[in-house]
Amino acid sequence: MRFSSVISIFILAILGFWTLIHAQQPYEGKATTNCSNTDNSVLGYSCSGLNRSCQAYVTFRSQPPYNSVASISTLLSSDPSQLSAINSVSETASFDTNKLVIVPVNCSCSGNYSQANTSYVVQAGDSFFLIANNTYQGLSNCQALQDQNRRQTSEIFTGERLTIPLRCACPTKNQNDAGIKYLLSYLVTWNDTVSTISIKFGVDTGRSLEANGLSEENPNIYPFTTLLIPLQNPPSSAQTIAPPPPPASPPPPSPSPNSNNSSDKTWVYVVVGVVGGIALMIVLGIIIFVRVFGKSKKRSDLVIVSESFEAREKPLNKKSDEESQDFLESISSIAESIKVYKFKELETATDNFSPSCWISGSVYRGLINGDYAAIKKVSGDVSKEIYLLNKINHFNLVRLSGVCFSDGHWFLVYEYAANGPLSDWICNTNNDGKFLNWTQRVQIALDVATGLNYLHSFTSPPHVHKNIKSSNVLLDSEFRAKIANLAMARSAEGQEGEFALTRHIVGTKGYMAPEYLEHGLVSTKLDVYAFGVLMMEIVSGKEVDALYTEEDMNLSDVLTDVLSKEDGQETLRKFIDPSIQGNYPLELTDLVMRLIDRCLNKNPADRPSMDEITQSLSRILTTSLNWESSNVPGYQFSRSS
Ligand SMILES: *[C@@H]1O[C@H](CO)[C@@H](O)[C@H](O)[C@H]1NC(C)=O
Ligand SMILES: *[C@@H]1O[C@H](CO)[C@@H](O)[C@H](O)[C@H]1NC(C)=O
Ligand SMILES: *[C@@H]1O[C@H](CO)[C@@H](O)[C@H](O)[C@H]1NC(C)=O
Ligand SMILES: *[C@@H]1O[C@H](CO)[C@@H](O)[C@H](O)[C@H]1NC(C)=O
Ligand SMILES: *[C@@H]1O[C@H](CO)[C@@H](O)[C@H](O)[C@H]1NC(C)=O
Ligand SMILES: *[C@@H]1O[C@H](CO)[C@@H](O)[C@H](O)[C@H]1NC(C)=O
Ligand SMILES: *[C@@H]1O[C@H](CO)[C@@H](O)[C@H](O)[C@H]1NC(C)=O
Repeated sequence: MRFSSVISIFILAILGFWTLIHAQQPYEGKATTNCSNTDNSVLGYSCSGLNRSCQAYVTFRSQPPYNSVASISTLLSSDPSQLSAINSVSETASFDTNKLVIVPVNCSCSGNYSQANTSYVVQAGDSFFLIANNTYQGLSNCQALQDQNRRQTSEIFTGERLTIPLRCACPTKNQNDAGIKYLLSYLVTWNDTVSTISIKFGVDTGRSLEANGLSEENPNIYPFTTLLIPLQNPPSSAQTIAPPPPPASPPPPSPSPNSNNSSDKTWVYVVVGVVGGIALMIVLGIIIFVRVFGKSKKRSDLVIVSESFEAREKPLNKKSDEESQDFLESISSIAESIKVYKFKELETATDNFSPSCWISGSVYRGLINGDYAAIKKVSGDVSKEIYLLNKINHFNLVRLSGVCFSDGHWFLVYEYAANGPLSDWICNTNNDGKFLNWTQRVQIALDVATGLNYLHSFTSPPHVHKNIKSSNVLLDSEFRAKIANLAMARSAEGQEGEFALTRHIVGTKGYMAPEYLEHGLVSTKLDVYAFGVLMMEIVSGKEVDALYTEEDMNLSDVLTDVLSKEDGQETLRKFIDPSIQGNYPLELTDLVMRLIDRCLNKNPADRPSMDEITQSLSRILTTSLNWESSNVPGYQFSRSS
């Protein structure tokens, strides 16, 4: 563990401290449950908050004799009326054993650490460890107790009163700027993962990792330790409901190491940590390579091209079956709109995944309750995508209607798009001579822009899709577009236009913005660039590879070429898909081309926002529709659908 964290920290430091800036309070892991650890860091969360005191929350699992509003309030020096209100119970209520109780506390800085003070009268047989770990369940620890009570030894006496500092923290300036108002010290228990906990509290997993200085490569957490959950709103009792018992016939549990066998598990963690460390080093190597040699090398040598619809960002970080099962249970309790299917149901729906139901890659068409659905088999970590899709609901984003976990694989059930991926329609030779007319093309572009605008501006936090391309845009029976495959989507750090640095250069050749390829910079403007390429495909009827005319020439040069030719209109006309020649309002093509040109701007800050693009395209669509209705006869003739 230690070894791999050292590697990770070392790498992150080299990488340009982006992650460290965002890491708010390092997660100390098992060190806080080890009384012989003498590191100062285990004494508490540091006083790095914007304010020196704040409202904070801790969790506590009801255990006799601390199983009522009154006894828990006393033990943790919380306000009984606030405690009962937040847990939606009366002030005289008792809790079932093991019920997760949310406890509001006042957190403030004392010396170098932030803490919520409470006091405790020592009982016969107590030790610092028993008080910290068993009575306070890990909300405090031996070292902090000893330090606060100014003890040189670990000797304590029955009947004496000790100050108990509970581990809590106040949001840092960064968190405050991101709208985070409270930090909740969550007591980790067996089988918890950062993503299941985050889902419970409706928090982005990335944010939680960040708040604890954890990384996707090394997200391990341990029972009886505290994990900080960054909250925008006060927590509520709905978040403490235990997941329901597993479904009637769960998939057979796979053999997995006993979670109580900590020496085995530590060993696994060490391996995972070392592998993660090595993977990080490789990625770092690639980034340095790209930075140093990128300009002199051909683009195609450097790009890690995704496998279209199946692209997974981190196969290395595969969740264990046990974690997946647990995650599945948490979905069924939180995500009401997502149905958890039994594998049998999916087998029936797809005729045992028969070739006749195969769509492409690992995607099958299934018939569920009389409706078609697209069923995708996935072996990577799906928690991010599920979590994101559960939060969003938009006509232009493919809806996730269900999930299933079986035999080490996830199956995601999506709404079905009858006309398949847009990529099948770009080049008309692919589609039995059927093609999209001008208005349909504008409508599709507008749909994609609207979906992206939603991701960029109306999800919290904002998200970047990161893998916009024609095979990730699906067309329904009305040729309305829906963005699919949010597997690579990630939250956009900071405001639109600001950048975050990524360690994974992943995407699809031809669609990736120059600043991302060269420097790994991620912002919403990445999607704007890819959208420009997509629009170019839509308008020209050429697939992305065919758009790049010369080696190393970039697309905005291609466009500038088209737009600056002396016989402007003529060159432009040649550029537009020949299938629709003559059947589009000429005056609009120039507008569309200029919009594309701006999307492909080398400087991300000069690219328009998706909001602006949506507005331009709406106007273009209105004009196109007017044009269409006044040109009905000729137009109808060329209609494809
Ligand atoms: C506890 O910490 C000490 C000192 O850091 C270390 O030597 C020991 O191995 C740790 N024990 C466990 C169980 O992690
Ligand atoms: C910090 O204190 C100010 C003034 O008391 C308050 O308005 C603000 O909400 C506090 N911020 C946090 C993150 O608690
Ligand atoms: C926390 O502070 C607020 C305001 O200072 C006070 O009203 C409240 O009673 C305090 N809560 C506890 C548990 O001390
Ligand atoms: C706080 O930390 C500083 C630097 O590590 C140390 O010099 C100081 O003694 C600490 N203060 C307290 C009250 O522990
Ligand atoms: C908490 O207790 C410590 C030690 O007894 C004391 O120094 C500190 O001032 C207390 N903090 C608050 C907010 O009461
Ligand atoms: C720590 O406390 C928990 C209950 O909170 C208990 O189940 C566990 O066994 C304790 N750990 C040790 C090492 O005693
Ligand atoms: C953790 O999960 C495993 C497998 O799902 C289960 O057997 C075990 O009982 C769980 N442990 C606890 C404490 O819930």
